Amino acid sequence: MFSTNTYASRRNKLKSQVSDGLLLFLGNEESGMNYTDNTYHFRQDSTFLYYFGLDKAGLAAIIDVESGEEWIVGDEITMDDVIWAGPQPTLEEQAARVGVVKILPKSELGAKIKDSLSTGRTVHFLPPYRPEHTIKLNEWTDRSLAEISQKASLEFIMAVINQRSYKTDEEIIEMDRAVNISGQMHINAIRATHAGKYEYEIAGTVHGTARSGGGDLAYPIILSVDGQTLHNHYHGNRLESGRLVLGDFGAETATHYAGDITRTWPVDKTFTHRQKEIYQIVLDANMNVINALRPGIKYLDCHLISWRTVTEGLKNMGLLEGETDEMVALGVPALFMPHGVGHMIGMDVHDMENLGENYIGYREGLERSKLLGLKSLRLAKELEAGFVLTIEPGIYFIPELIQLWEGQGKFQEYIKYDKLKEYYDFGGVRIEDNYLITTDGAKLIGDPIPKTIAEIEALRI
Ligand code: GLY
Ligand code: MN
Ligand code: MN
Repeated sequence: MFSTNTYASRRNKLKSQVSDGLLLFLGNEESGMNYTDNTYHFRQDSTFLYYFGLDKAGLAAIIDVESGEEWIVGDEITMDDVIWAGPQPTLEEQAARVGVVKILPKSELGAKIKDSLSTGRTVHFLPPYRPEHTIKLNEWTDRSLAEISQKASLEFIMAVINQRSYKTDEEIIEMDRAVNISGQMHINAIRATHAGKYEYEIAGTVHGTARSGGGDLAYPIILSVDGQTLHNHYHGNRLESGRLVLGDFGAETATHYAGDITRTWPVDKTFTHRQKEIYQIVLDANMNVINALRPGIKYLDCHLISWRTVTEGLKNMGLLEGETDEMVALGVPALFMPHGVGHMIGMDVHDMENLGENYIGYREGLERSKLLGLKSLRLAKELEAGFVLTIEPGIYFIPELIQLWEGQGKFQEYIKYDKLKEYYDFGGVRIEDNYLITTDGAKLIGDPIPKTIAEIEALRI
């Protein structure tokens, strides 16, 4: 947790950015996995954590922008809580820790919102992503369930984005920590890899390392020999000699700042020649984007740098033929990299995406493309000092997609479909790092994690 002053000054800044009304923050509830009391791992809402810091289920908060008053909404600790969950500070003490004096019992929240609305005041809320919040907002605001998301306050959304997008020094310390734990997860995974093991054995090592870092996973583990499936959460394959393993996983710290790292390594101790060729293109794409990072550059242009590098590399291998710029403009490289080159990261692995992807990564005059690959680019606008983002180019051979395009005769003048048949069993390569944009360039978050072919192979000696 940060100091009391950090939370109080974040809220003071927020108050100065919203014109009037009440700001409503809904913390998360416990959620039953197979019955009410057997719950999923609890994860507090990140915006609630950012302004109020309390990592506890069943809370909400209100800020009255005009009077400046602040309330933590929740019920005081009972003896039952102590019996089942142990002794703990009172809610009043917890609120005081983050600089809030007033407590509002949960049972009074609905009436407070309804009273405010009935006197013509605005109650600003953020787009809910949990059904129980949608239901509560429906009950309190008299908006239909279908309407709730569209009635979220744009002014509130943009004020939050304008604060959370710029990471402070104390947040960067947490993000360095998150990436360092994530790096250790990767090193342990690469060292634990041997032919004959199963993916779930490596996934277990990875999860254990995240927990050993004091936090937990920042998102479900992606770890597979079928790396061509972008978000592959299946871990039942046997690691066969000759295959690659793609691992995309990261930790979040106890304070809930995330790392998001991808490495790709061979099941065997060394890469084959064919694997090295593809790996080096992806590494070049990763480094070319990193070298271009600076305030003012559009991240869309960084995406295009990665597509250009991939296109050039595959041309050199004889898998593509034609003018690079022409192929990039048409979206030909999407066959091999059908995702965006990166996204903002912070307390959420895809930071603030619950507030609306386009509000985070786009702006007026910069519309999201509908092209395969570009349509999944979550951050396209100009980079600014204080942004933290991921750089994650890849090359994948997705037989189903290749066959679809070939069947359609799509881009057949550029794509050497016959040669691609040799790569149907290849899988995929992605290399992902996290960087902070500085006033004159960019800085790696965390310590370097083995990334070159030689560095990866050296982990297996
Ligand atoms: N970890 C998912 C992603 O890279 O966006
Ligand atoms: Mn990732
Ligand atoms: Mn990512």
